[in-house]
Amino acid sequence: MPFPRTSKSLSERVAAELPPRGRGLRGVRKLTCWALAALAACWLLWQQGVGNDRVFHAGSISQAHQFIANDCARCHQDSWQPLKRLVSFNNSATSTPDAACIQCHAGPQHNDHPSAQMAHCAHCHREHHGQPALSAVDNRFCTVCHTDLEQDATAPLHFAAQIADFAQHPEFALLRTDVPPATDSTTAHGVHRVAQWSTDGASPGWRDKSAIRFHHHKHMQPSDPRGLPSPSGGFERLDCQSCHQPDSTGQYMRPIAYEQHCARCHPLSYDAQLELGAPLPHRDVQLVRDAMRSRLAEAFRNMQPADTASTQATPRGIPGATGTAPILPGELDWVNQRLVTAEHVVFGKEAKGGCRFCHTLEERDSGLSVTPTSIPDRWQTHARFNHASHRLLDCAACHDRATGSMTTADILLPGIAICRECHGASASKSGQASDRCVECHDYHDHGQNTLAGKLGLNLEPVDARPGGGAPPDEAMQP
Ligand code: HEC
Ligand code: HEC
Ligand code: HEC
Ligand code: HEC
Ligand code: HEC
Ligand code: HEC
Ligand code: HEC
Ligand code: HEC
Ligand code: HEC
Ligand code: HEC
Repeated sequence: MPFPRTSKSLSERVAAELPPRGRGLRGVRKLTCWALAALAACWLLWQQGVGNDRVFHAGSISQAHQFIANDCARCHQDSWQPLKRLVSFNNSATSTPDAACIQCHAGPQHNDHPSAQMAHCAHCHREHHGQPALSAVDNRFCTVCHTDLEQDATAPLHFAAQIADFAQHPEFALLRTDVPPATDSTTAHGVHRVAQWSTDGASPGWRDKSAIRFHHHKHMQPSDPRGLPSPSGGFERLDCQSCHQPDSTGQYMRPIAYEQHCARCHPLSYDAQLELGAPLPHRDVQLVRDAMRSRLAEAFRNMQPADTASTQATPRGIPGATGTAPILPGELDWVNQRLVTAEHVVFGKEAKGGCRFCHTLEERDSGLSVTPTSIPDRWQTHARFNHASHRLLDCAACHDRATGSMTTADILLPGIAICRECHGASASKSGQASDRCVECHDYHDHGQNTLAGKLGLNLEPVDARPGGGAPPDEAMQP
């Protein structure tokens, strides 16, 4: 037969076994409590009397502010605010007004959007919580708005409107193939700086708009197994770091430089038959022209018998110019004639080894000009990244499409799925990479200093994170 486990029967059994409580004991306890409370209050008053403010601490002050830990009034400028908060149920009452914080450092606005109004500094930067880093702000201070930006948006939005956590974070804009974010409204989104939306080809998407011709596949996987032939006669195998070296902080990659990364295999020598010596200068079209002219002139002089130069020369047009050889008879015609061919080989449309091998050239009224390459140094300006923190990974773990890429237009950056392999709620728990918003995003627009500007203060922001790195994570603390 089953045991009769109704709540009634159980409670009857328990009550029956409880020891009886003495009325007298309860009275004594009450009295003791009151006495202790009174004693504590007296002690607090006495401590304040002797000037020891530390006893009022709600918790230790953050590391960065240790130097004013005892100087309470530097931050607490308005009194009775906690009481006000309690009786008015108004959470915005604070004893630490923003003005107290920005006497020392700026707290620039979040975003120009009218719905990005900033809360009190102390709202997000929670003091006395023993937090090692004040700027390691919790997600809820972001998701209070970002879970649904549309809710009270008073102006058109430019960014994804629903982000409650990293698990629901949308694909990074540059990798999206569905809708071009905000292509209709404005250009506030940083993707427009580096890419353009295109519906040509296999799938619609963003295309890298750098004006330089480059073919990763041919350089990474040369048809000759020995590697790429270089003009010196040898062969060379390239890896990613042959062209992409980290900057001094290790955060991003240094820009490509023709002289360092391309010149040894693609020197600008346009015509071996003319024996023009060293490769031409790069970059400035006029300098290239000048170099071609002077080298042709030199080649012409070298072809003349030795005595011609002294007997038949006329001085060059520039009065007082020294160090320039006089013009020989026939030189101008010869040089000008060759120059037409040379120009054609270097700048012409059919030229195989000239500037157009890599560049787009434009004929303007002012002359020939090279379209600025505009190879971006930063791709995702609305987030932060750090290559050094991921140096244990192979480049291909994230840039998996680089080796196979056949055109500059390809976007070679990783999509969010790759980040989620490590940055996730479960990964965070196992002590790995964090999925908090502030791991990857700034809140303040450090490019501006609006708040300090409004108050007429001229304060530099305190850069607590050298190199603009992320706030140190609790997990990283010793
Ligand atoms: C670097 C600035 C800073 C310093 C210095 C500082 N505090 Fe605070 N304190 C804060 C902030 C920020 C809060 C949270 C205020 C809020 O939520 O509105 C706070 C809250 C408090 C509270 C809770 C009641 C309240 O006002 O919200 C007490 C009590 C307090 N501080 C005591 C002290 C004492 C005592 C000292 C000096 C020994 C001190 N604090 C020094 C920034 C500071
Ligand atoms: C007396 C000057 C002073 C006052 C007042 C002050 N700070 Fe600071 N704050 C500093 C200094 C100095 C640092 C440390 C900078 C560093 O380490 O490079 C700092 C660092 C910080 C940091 C970054 C460090 C971290 O732990 O992430 C934050 C955030 C910050 N303060 C917020 C505030 C807020 C909010 C207030 C107002 C409640 C405030 N500060 C009041 C001087 C001040
Ligand atoms: C919505 C939350 C939020 C509010 C409100 C806020 N901050 Fe911050 N603050 C952050 C976050 C997140 C960071 C770290 C990322 C960054 O630097 O933007 C930060 C960083 C800082 C830093 C360190 C920056 C650096 O260069 O190292 C300072 C100083 C700071 N805040 C001051 C302020 C001041 C002053 C105010 C008020 C005027 C304020 N903050 C208001 C979230 C906030
Ligand atoms: C008061 C509401 C509010 C809070 C709090 C808030 N944001 Fe925003 N945020 C906005 C609005 C509004 C925009 C602009 C949206 C648009 O134009 O479509 C924005 C834009 C952004 C953007 C994209 C634009 C840019 O400037 O890079 C990022 C990233 C972002 N917020 C991250 C954060 C993070 C991280 C936090 C928490 C530390 C945070 N936000 C807290 C309202 C807020
Ligand atoms: C011979 C030099 C060279 C080598 C080797 C090279 N790159 Fe590049 N890379 C470039 C140039 C030039 C650009 C700029 C033009 C462009 O966007 O394609 C570039 C651009 C990039 C970009 C940003 C462009 C985008 O559209 O996303 C990434 C990411 C990149 N390379 C990764 C790699 C990786 C990973 C490797 C190794 C597998 C590699 N590169 C090897 C020259 C090189
Ligand atoms: C180690 C030698 C080497 C280096 C360094 C090198 N290249 Fe090349 N590059 C080659 C060779 C060899 C080819 C011909 C490959 C082929 O056709 O299979 C080539 C082909 C090219 C092409 C033609 C691709 C096509 O579509 O056919 C361009 C454009 C180019 N390189 C640009 C660059 C740029 C820009 C750099 C510097 C960022 C660079 N190269 C660095 C050896 C090199
Ligand atoms: C083998 C490829 C290659 C050839 C050929 C080449 N360049 Fe470049 N050029 C580059 C690369 C890569 C860059 C971007 C990196 C840099 O600035 O060094 C560049 C940058 C430039 C720039 C700066 C553009 C800007 O971003 O504002 C100018 C101007 C320029 N080249 C002119 C020339 C001229 C003129 C010629 C022909 C005489 C030429 N280049 C031939 C690869 C090449
Ligand atoms: C692991 C890194 C990472 C984390 C964690 C993360 N983000 Fe992002 N987020 C990014 C990157 C990268 C982008 C692309 C930025 C760009 O396109 O310039 C982005 C883009 C955004 C954008 C712009 C979206 C758009 O329409 O282009 C917003 C808003 C944003 N994040 C908010 C958040 C919020 C809120 C959180 C926390 C709940 C968060 N992010 C957590 C890396 C992260
Ligand atoms: C954990 C993923 C990851 C790994 C591993 C990685 N990258 Fe990146 N890389 C990124 C992201 C994200 C960006 C976009 C950064 C930005 O906003 O400019 C980027 C940007 C770049 C760029 C464009 C220039 C720049 O710095 O923004 C180049 C070039 C590049 N990476 C090359 C490399 C090379 C070479 C390696 C291997 C040594 C490598 N990356 C390893 C994620 C990665
Ligand atoms: C193989 C795992 C792994 C992958 C994949 C990965 N991360 Fe990380 N990431 C980490 C770890 C671990 C850290 C912490 C490293 C540290 O603090 O030194 C980190 C740190 C970061 C930081 C903070 C770096 C700093 O020091 O400021 C950012 C931002 C970040 N990751 C973005 C990304 C983005 C964006 C992607 C996807 C393109 C990505 N990560 C992919 C493991 C990973």
